[in-house]
Amino acid sequence: MFTASALRASSKTDQYAELADQARGLLHGERDRIANAANFSALVYGALDDLNWAGFYFYDGRELVVGPFQGRPACVRIALDKGVCGAAASTRQTQVVRDVHAFPGHIACDAASRSEIVIPLITDGKLLGVFDVDSPKLARFDGDDRAGMEQLVKIYIDSLQGSI
Ligand code: SME
Repeated sequence: MFTASALRASSKTDQYAELADQARGLLHGERDRIANAANFSALVYGALDDLNWAGFYFYDGRELVVGPFQGRPACVRIALDKGVCGAAASTRQTQVVRDVHAFPGHIACDAASRSEIVIPLITDGKLLGVFDVDSPKLARFDGDDRAGMEQLVKIYIDSLQGSI
């Protein structure tokens, strides 16, 4: 049985390295996309400070549809030309938004959200969806979070090997 433990490292980079080890352990031996997304969301949400939402939107061939997450109930469908999630999906680039109120078209699922990071999930050149993390704190995410989250998301994508 996997037990998530509190992060001990003091630097952000080292915290993400610890979290990456935990994610590898948590997803090891399981390839189910939904099961791993559920556990991955719970791990990230529980480990990092100042988050109010962490979870997945999967691409159904037309738009993004909400998947496993932690936090308040969220909007179910997001078009690729809408919101921070749509921007990450359509550009295939991580979006780091220091102030969601300043992002044109931001979709406010939880009024408490002030900053956001969205990482696209790309496998074999195809868009699988996005991993979205929100914070009630302004400018919660920086370049270290981008690098750390991209590393984490890769662990999720690698865990699905052969199942999609
Ligand atoms: N804020 C996102 C919508 C999803 S929720 O944050 C969970 C966006 O603008 O795409």
